[in-house]
Amino acid sequence: MTLPRELRTERLCLRWWVEDDRAPFARLNADARVVEFLPGPLSRQESDARAQRIEAHFLEQGFGLWAVEIPGVTRFAGFIGLSIPRFEVPFTPCVEIGWRLDADYWNRGYATEGARAALAFGFESLHLEAIVSYTVPANARSRRVMEKIGMTHAPRDDFDHPSLPEGHPLRRHVFYRIDRAAFIGLRGSR
Ligand SMILES: CC(C)(COP(=O)(O)OP(=O)(O)OC[C@H]1O[C@@H](n2cnc3c(N)ncnc32)[C@H](O)[C@@H]1OP(=O)(O)O)[C@@H](O)C(=O)NCCC(=O)NCCS
Repeated sequence: MTLPRELRTERLCLRWWVEDDRAPFARLNADARVVEFLPGPLSRQESDARAQRIEAHFLEQGFGLWAVEIPGVTRFAGFIGLSIPRFEVPFTPCVEIGWRLDADYWNRGYATEGARAALAFGFESLHLEAIVSYTVPANARSRRVMEKIGMTHAPRDDFDHPSLPEGHPLRRHVFYRIDRAAFIGLRGSR
């Protein structure tokens, strides 16, 4: 199956990464507002390593955390997309939907718009049965995006993130999911 290298929405182009994305990605990963609910700011080296892992995922899977371009506004605003988590918990293996945007572009509906396209891609092109997402309980912005795209919180599956040590303040995660039937139902009701 040949998968497209970009997805278009009304305002966004979700595309594979290019070398020029590295510098703005590093700026975003060093911004305290962006990493408030992540384990901490990243150095340039750590940010580049993260970008490399994202690119490797595209090469291995044909899809991933697409770079977000906002034509006429910015060449790189962050990422939105689908990825396969590498850690093991009761709900893995699975496909996760995730997002991280430059704070200059928050609250304009971009994450929701891009995430809807990523969900459609997951169900219609990858034929997935379900897509999951998770974050720390306090990340209200991210939870709001999950809710706006039709995901539901499944408290019974809330979990402790295995990459963080016991007692870490960001270890507890809330778990959201949407399955194919719910996605098709949402489409029909629009
Ligand atoms: C999460 C993130 C991608 C959202 O991007 P965005 O483009 O601003 O999202 P949207 O504009 O589509 O939606 C944001 C929603 O959160 C709401 N919101 C904003 N600040 C909020 C707050 N402090 N508390 C509750 N809701 C808030 C907005 O009002 C909006 O909801 P509405 O449309 O019902 O009004 C962005 O905030 C981000 O990159 N955060 C840092 C990285 C991160 O936490 N990623 C997720 C890790 S799991």
